[in-house]
Amino acid sequence: MVDDEPRLRRVLVRLLEGEGFTCSEAGSGTEALEMMHHEPVPLVISDLRMPQMDGVTLLREILARWPDTAVIVVTAVAEVESAVACLQLGALDYVAKPFHLDEVRARVMQALDKRRLILENRMYQHQLEERVQEQAHRIEELSLERLQALVHFLEEKDPYTRGHSVRVANYSLGIARQLQLDQEVIDLIALGAELHDIGKIGVSEAVLHKAGKLSDTEYRHIMEHPVIGARILEPLMRDAPGALAIVRSHHERLDGKGFPDGLRGDAIPFEVRVVTVADSFDAMTSVRPYRPALSVQRATQELEDMQGVQFDPRAVAAFLAAFPDRAALPVTAPEARPLHLPARPVEARRT
Ligand SMILES: [Fe+2]
Repeated sequence: MVDDEPRLRRVLVRLLEGEGFTCSEAGSGTEALEMMHHEPVPLVISDLRMPQMDGVTLLREILARWPDTAVIVVTAVAEVESAVACLQLGALDYVAKPFHLDEVRARVMQALDKRRLILENRMYQHQLEERVQEQAHRIEELSLERLQALVHFLEEKDPYTRGHSVRVANYSLGIARQLQLDQEVIDLIALGAELHDIGKIGVSEAVLHKAGKLSDTEYRHIMEHPVIGARILEPLMRDAPGALAIVRSHHERLDGKGFPDGLRGDAIPFEVRVVTVADSFDAMTSVRPYRPALSVQRATQELEDMQGVQFDPRAVAAFLAAFPDRAALPVTAPEARPLHLPARPVEARRT
């Protein structure tokens, strides 16, 4: 209760205490702000005409610092215009002097109810938003799981690529763990590796399975799959740009002669370079319609020979260290790995 007139303050305070409220009194705006600084209150009743700080200034200050405070201004009848101005500034109500105590009681109750509803509504909105975001995240994950199932299905149909994505994911995980990358990075490498060739669903099967040498046009057609894959996954991987980069750039080379963007050296994200080593090793050690599988020894030699040209030397070294028993390669057993997007932070909501 803020009023420079002690008698008036007492009347209102006695009334409200009679209703069970706990009240504090301030003789000026400055004093009120000082008190609120120590203990914010849900409701302020303030006179408009006060020396030093007037009621409008006090109202602005209160709403700027404690926007959830309900403010009722007390005006003289002649000041109805200022009362309206206060409502526009954010006061919840006003009472005009001389007032009936019953009226003040009713306005106070109403203002507190209104404030409670505003707060509840905001809390509800906030929870709703969180739930919507969680659901959206889950829907994206479900869609990714479907796509993962689709990749496996397509690979199973084709004897040349059977199990490719799982093996590439396993090799990539081996490299990532060998390098002790952060768990978050390891997860996105697993996600990207598992889905890296998804764009092949957009490549003609006749070209994909052609025995014999590919023409330039056919080769270019196959090499569209990273771009197609990135286009398919983009709407689902907004929270995992690192994984999306793996899909788009896994055929890039350190020397800049790769596909589709001709990225060179450090322009290729490290996660991508990890998957490129894993992908190339598996491609070399798998049978292709146009050539037999290379031996593990020969494929390993190729990785070593092309270090710094096609492959990242750190990723190659980590691959060799992670799989020291070459006789056990290629790995075929799928490793249990949840396919999930990184957690999405819930944005702080503006009130
Ligand atoms: Fe590929």
